[in-house]
Amino acid sequence: MQPIQMVDLQNQYHRYKNEIDSAIQNVLDSGAFIKGKEVAELEQKLAEFTGSKYVIGCANGTDALQVAFMALNLPAGSEVITPAFSYAAVAEVLHLLQLKPVYCEVIPGTFLMDPKSVESLIGPNTRAITPVHLYGQCCDMEIILDIAAKHRLYVIEDTAQAIGAFYTFSNGNKAQAGTMGHIGTTSFFPSKNLGCYGDGGAIFCSDDSLAKKIKMVANHGQEIKYKHEVVGVNSRLDTIQAAILLVKLKYLRDFEKARNNVANKYDEGFAAISGLKTPERAENSTHVFHQYTLTLEDAAKRDTIMAYLKENQIPSMIYYPLPLYQQQAYKAEIKMQPTEQLCASVFSLPIHTEMTDIQIEYIISKVKEFLNS
Ligand SMILES: Cc1ncc(COP(=O)(O)O)c(C=O)c1O
Repeated sequence: MQPIQMVDLQNQYHRYKNEIDSAIQNVLDSGAFIKGKEVAELEQKLAEFTGSKYVIGCANGTDALQVAFMALNLPAGSEVITPAFSYAAVAEVLHLLQLKPVYCEVIPGTFLMDPKSVESLIGPNTRAITPVHLYGQCCDMEIILDIAAKHRLYVIEDTAQAIGAFYTFSNGNKAQAGTMGHIGTTSFFPSKNLGCYGDGGAIFCSDDSLAKKIKMVANHGQEIKYKHEVVGVNSRLDTIQAAILLVKLKYLRDFEKARNNVANKYDEGFAAISGLKTPERAENSTHVFHQYTLTLEDAAKRDTIMAYLKENQIPSMIYYPLPLYQQQAYKAEIKMQPTEQLCASVFSLPIHTEMTDIQIEYIISKVKEFLNS
């Protein structure tokens, strides 16, 4: 059996090596390392793929959020509602821009933003909601968009973990993660479902004037060279990364199938184990399984099961060990029960496009062995 990794980037690269190598070589030959034709081509292909009118490449997923919020130009102190059970990027950007994160709960089964919690937190200073489509499926956007419309709030979707996931509205319309709010952001960090070979990110927007502002902010606040209209940043997607992503985008639906195959096998394997909860599928969303995250009934067992898996050469990770409001940098005096319980009891298993049945079965058997002993 090949060694098990959380994500296997080498074997995936080797599967597409010829195409990727020649895409990189073409950029090297062209010398257009910044703003080469592959960047515009990727933006166009991603717009077609997602259904977003505009896609703007940028340097990483955190920058995508920063540029999005800079383009909105919210007054300092504006409140933005976002889950406490999440990656730190949203909180970090809000703090940097002197905006105030207001943390909402997630629904424990799906780990997704709880719309009821969002609504309860809206106050006179609330200006935006940032749903995070965690682990690979969409938050309940119909309700979130209704709440936002009622209170005239912006919606910035963080879809770093869910590119390609579809949400179905009650009228049957479907839309992709990142294209339902005013702005969507994503990351092409190597381990992401659509990952490049360095840092990368993109912003989705279908509003003409907002997209223009986003482009301007990401390019030093200028539309015309040396005419800086607003304070901006330098956040570009490198041509080499765009060339790699153009190859990988062609296979993104295959990646999604492979990940779902692993998740379905895990689900089956863990169905009859007591004390372990498999991840719930959201009712209105497809799942692209960026992560496969289990919840232990007895949180005290987490360290020992992870140590047992490690002894058996199975890596596992905790996404995320602390609520954002308990992080030193973003401390806030609040307590949120489902969030804290999840932080104490979840762990994620390896899931990627290169996993073999033998590896999956081995992992299932070791988890079972531990919990049944
Ligand atoms: C939900 C979420 N948002 C934002 C980011 C930030 O992306 P990047 O690492 O490209 O800055 C990540 C990356 O892990 C993420 O998982």
